[in-house]
Amino acid sequence: MRKKIVAGNWKMNCNLDETKTLLKEIKDKTNTLNNNTQLIVAPAFTNLLTAAEFLKETNIKVAAQNVHAEEKGAFTGEISVDMLSSVGVKTVILGHSERRKYFGETKPLLNKKVNTALRHGFEVIFCVGESLEEREKNNHFKVIEEQLDKSLFYIKKETWKKIVIAYEPVWAIGTGKTASAKQAQEMHAFIRELIAQKYDQATADGVSILYGGSVKPENSTELFAQKDVDGGLIGGAALNAESFIKIANSF
Ligand code: 13P
Repeated sequence: MRKKIVAGNWKMNCNLDETKTLLKEIKDKTNTLNNNTQLIVAPAFTNLLTAAEFLKETNIKVAAQNVHAEEKGAFTGEISVDMLSSVGVKTVILGHSERRKYFGETKPLLNKKVNTALRHGFEVIFCVGESLEEREKNNHFKVIEEQLDKSLFYIKKETWKKIVIAYEPVWAIGTGKTASAKQAQEMHAFIRELIAQKYDQATADGVSILYGGSVKPENSTELFAQKDVDGGLIGGAALNAESFIKIANSF
């Protein structure tokens, strides 16, 4: 059975006080969870220690939104895997389209980041997604295949247990425009098939593939009902405890 996961990517939102408030609201609502979905929250770097300590005795995992590819050194302003580990964070989101777009993260760089994270025992939520233009040109399958091929399909078969994939069509992020359940299922099945071809069916069947892009309680039930959709990577709706938990309850 694949793990069901609902992860909140808080992006550059919530200062320390707001982080504490939101974490408390989420924690308080976990007793209303009606299934065993794995919850993950990804606050900003400055609030990771607080989050990790606050959630220590819970089943909610804390993830970082990024990490540097190098282990340490003269990389002003960057955060290493060891720094994350030392505050109790062992999960990281990599390859988010905002990192690719605004921070120039390339496929080879992401490959390096994935390797560094895996080497240090991290779980990686690896994001892929096509732009609107790429979808309109009917290039979306090719784009996703390349993103996986150049950044992820180098890893050893054994390490796939540490990987979660998030399919986030760029045109659906923060736009209110969700991929239809059919579009999500089609791409998730395609991704799983690629993993089966490159590795094997058992590996492919074990990987949780999340959908991201304007997920909210109003559409999560239909999305999560799809055979290959194992949960969601949530942006805006994860900043509200009630909607985050509602989404988690929609399997
Ligand atoms: P929204 O849910 O705000 O569209 O963001 C999705 C996302 O980018 C999660 O990583």
